[in-house]
Amino acid sequence: MYICLCNALTDRDLRSRITGDGASVSMVYRACGCTPQCGKCVPMVRDMLREACQGAASAGLEGAD
Ligand code: FES
Repeated sequence: MYICLCNALTDRDLRSRITGDGASVSMVYRACGCTPQCGKCVPMVRDMLREACQGAASAGLEGAD
């Protein structure tokens, strides 16, 4: 599914560039070789980062016991 129409970025393109903790929205765009244009996709990318971060945190907790 297209997330960023301005840069023709799909959710797969973006997820493959989200590299865990500490990644920022601008880092994801930079990794895709572009920058946000209109900015409408930024909240969605931010949510994807948050989900990835929470997923990594849960995975870490599972191994903590
Ligand atoms: S939709 Fe991503 S910058 Fe416009």
